[in-house]
Amino acid sequence: MIVIGLLAGIVTGGVAYLIPWLPDQASTQAEEIDGVYWFVAIICAVVFSLVAGVSIYAGWKFRAPADDMDDGSPIHGHTGLEIWWTAIPTVLVVAMAVWSAVALARAETLPDNPDEYTTIEVTAAQFAWSFTYPELERTDGELVLRVNEPVELILTANDVIHAFWVPEFRMKQDAVPGIQTRTVITPTKEGSYDVICTELCGPGHPVMRAGVRVLSDADYEAWVAEGEEGAGGGEGGGDEGEADGASVFAEAGCESCHTLADADSEAEVGPDLDSVLPGQEEQQILTSIVDPNAEISEGYQPNVMPGDYEDRLSEAELDALVAYLVEVAGASR
Ligand code: CUA
Repeated sequence: MIVIGLLAGIVTGGVAYLIPWLPDQASTQAEEIDGVYWFVAIICAVVFSLVAGVSIYAGWKFRAPADDMDDGSPIHGHTGLEIWWTAIPTVLVVAMAVWSAVALARAETLPDNPDEYTTIEVTAAQFAWSFTYPELERTDGELVLRVNEPVELILTANDVIHAFWVPEFRMKQDAVPGIQTRTVITPTKEGSYDVICTELCGPGHPVMRAGVRVLSDADYEAWVAEGEEGAGGGEGGGDEGEADGASVFAEAGCESCHTLADADSEAEVGPDLDSVLPGQEEQQILTSIVDPNAEISEGYQPNVMPGDYEDRLSEAELDALVAYLVEVAGASR
């Protein structure tokens, strides 16, 4: 029976391991986490198959004939078996606990030298992410990382509990109002990924996503330079209102829900601004931002847009945002 069960276990464990169930590994943490994952999954597959295999075989082999009305033979305990079925699971469970603890500690270790990693502040709010790069004095709706450079993420939330997760990086961490949580990621593969909110946080939860880009050293430097240029241009030019409004649009997370050609956003959670804005009065646009329930576009009920942009944005930011939208949409004043 045990041989049959073990064979079944080896086959199911092997099949489970060979099928690509998991997303790409794009961080050093993903390798740690997957190591634990497969260790636990294979132990579970083997133990399950062993128990199920023995049960099915015993049920078939030792079943009573239809006319057998006798009691079964009396059995009481089996010290040898009991020692083994206590000792083996204990060893397995302790091994899983130790491996998990070691993997988590290693995954969250940062280099001792602060020059060797970056810190990014992540703020979650219904229903958008924003990322502040303190060293660059920059806030963006997109998470941009340099390949092979560890990054410490400091997370918080403005309203309710959210959770940060990029499947390819594996690490997952809650973003909780009023406290700071942290996690560490060392991306190993250039490419584009998604931050996914994994804590039910309201009607917009399933669409609460943000882009992640992992860039090569050269592309990362170019992205940093582009940001500095953008900030410099805003200060000097007479076009200040427009420049600020565009960055408010990105920073406040508008682009994670709305399509707007000028901002290169193609999100479809909320109304397409290229089609709804033209013809709207300045006041109407302002109302839609600060009180999104006042008037809801056809097909977008129930409203999922947060109603607290008046608190999130300063008066100047709101003015700049409205001016920007009026301008890019050619809306009437
Ligand atoms: Cu934020 Cu779910």
